[in-house]
Amino acid sequence: MTTSNFTAFNPDSHTVDDLSAVGGGTGLPDIGELTQLANDLFRSLPCDGSRITPLAQASNAELPSGQQASPDPALAELAIPKRADLQQLLHVDTSNPGSGSNFYFIEALETHARNLKTRDIGSLRSPLDLPGGTNESLLAGVSAQEFGLPNAIDWQRLSTPRFDTASVPSSTGSGNEFYFLDHSRASTSTSPIPDIDTEKRTFDVNAIRRDFPILQERVNGHSLVWLDNAATTQKPKAVIERISAFYAHENSNIHRAAHTLAARATDAYEKARDTVARFINSPSAENIVFVRGTTEAINLVAQSWGRQNLKADDEIVISWLEHHANIVPWQQVCAETGAKLRVAPVDDDGQIILSEYQQLLNSRTKLVAFTQVSNALGTVTPAHAMIEMAHRVGAKVLLDGAQSVSHLHTDVQAFDCDWFVFSGHKIFGPTGIGVLYGKADVLESMPPWQGGGNMIEDVTFEKTIYQPSPARFEAGTGNIADAVGLGAALEYVEKIGIANIARYEHELLLYAIDALSRISGLRLIGTAAEKTSVLSFVLNGHSTQDVGAALNREGIAVRSGHHCAQPILRRFGLESTVRPSLAFYNTYEEIDRLVNAIRHIKARKDF
Ligand code: ALA
Repeated sequence: MTTSNFTAFNPDSHTVDDLSAVGGGTGLPDIGELTQLANDLFRSLPCDGSRITPLAQASNAELPSGQQASPDPALAELAIPKRADLQQLLHVDTSNPGSGSNFYFIEALETHARNLKTRDIGSLRSPLDLPGGTNESLLAGVSAQEFGLPNAIDWQRLSTPRFDTASVPSSTGSGNEFYFLDHSRASTSTSPIPDIDTEKRTFDVNAIRRDFPILQERVNGHSLVWLDNAATTQKPKAVIERISAFYAHENSNIHRAAHTLAARATDAYEKARDTVARFINSPSAENIVFVRGTTEAINLVAQSWGRQNLKADDEIVISWLEHHANIVPWQQVCAETGAKLRVAPVDDDGQIILSEYQQLLNSRTKLVAFTQVSNALGTVTPAHAMIEMAHRVGAKVLLDGAQSVSHLHTDVQAFDCDWFVFSGHKIFGPTGIGVLYGKADVLESMPPWQGGGNMIEDVTFEKTIYQPSPARFEAGTGNIADAVGLGAALEYVEKIGIANIARYEHELLLYAIDALSRISGLRLIGTAAEKTSVLSFVLNGHSTQDVGAALNREGIAVRSGHHCAQPILRRFGLESTVRPSLAFYNTYEEIDRLVNAIRHIKARKDF
């Protein structure tokens, strides 16, 4: 990138000390000063500065067409940069200088605008060509060194800006649309940042694949094709190295000692909690409980909230799509309390029949628990609508994100679910670590489900006073290193961008569905209009086990079996399917290899 044609940002006019003092020493940056910094940065970019709209000078004319001016003066002041300008910014990112620590991300936060309805946020988002959930933000990576900005260490002296409304300075008025220099997204990795060019929609899958050492493995003489991502995902170097660095430099128990390593380990663990909170748009890190995985999270809610709140003839509603982990814990709590389990049926495509779900809801419904994405079929459920319908009858809602969190944007506040659960290993993190998100008042109302160290404030032989959540639910020594590894995994996904992932995977899924549909005798199970990642099928004349074994001989890993979801397979008259499942490191060539291998299996039998 040439740097000759611009005026460098002048570090003298914004010293680190200025930055530290931003927000009047409260630790929170003032919106005016942030805006000034952002404008200075825009002006310093190597393009015609006049084409980038200074934030404070934005007019309603800059809003995308169809977007009404907000009645909120703070919002009305703000600019949506023109698309060409944004692309200029985005292109800056592609020349990763390799220093790893010099990327600052300027974000157009669309989330907290009180005056914007979801529809309006959608109309803001689409002109920027950033499809996804309501919390999509625009990322533009800028090399700090090239623009004379302070380095990452200096920025660390700014308090971490937070995404939640509670920590947005009240002077912003609404909390809102503004451009935000967010050092918390500064890269600390040396791995290349994938191209997120919004115009050409390129997605550098080969660069991504180089981040995953295991994808270079050979199996049975062939290069590995990993299509068992619904069972577990592979881990990027950023995660492997982060866990290794933890054990090499930080390992200690946490929250318990005054020594340096205890401080390092505690900081690393709590930073991971912050990262999880940011990733799912939790209002606070205090809503995040670390658990072993989705299964433990659901059992925790069933045993803690369920035993406390359910009584005879209360009802729990689940869906026919559920994994055993979202069936068995509820059956157990029903057996203990006398509550009853009700099941919302699905149609022949594997979609929840909303009218029948509605009929199951009534004043006895105390809890609704369902998956956002079916692990066996890939169906994406209408979670927003289902949660709203459940809340209308006063039920609490647990949303199982185990199969959605690596494929779709997650915003627990937009969902308004009472709990959200997921596993680290399904999103490129380690096994043995997962997350229970809960609304603050719900978590506070729940008794602990395990007792021990770390979860207590005071213990005598007569009485124990418990910690508030999340510590109340983290008895004993937890999986510290893997929580840190999960944080690294989420940061890795953030760098690629979940919107980019969703778009790439969707196109790959359509390609695979089309190719598999052309194989005679192959029946796809789960043909919902909204689906992601999963391609369950059966092949006439071949057991699912034989197909799985034959694919393995060609180096292709898929799961064949009941996928811990027997009821939904039986709904389709089956005991098992073959289940290839995609992640963003899979390629079109790998789909071709899968399809060719299935054709060979068929040909051998047909012959
Ligand atoms: N729940 C995981 C799967 O669907 C194990 O394969």
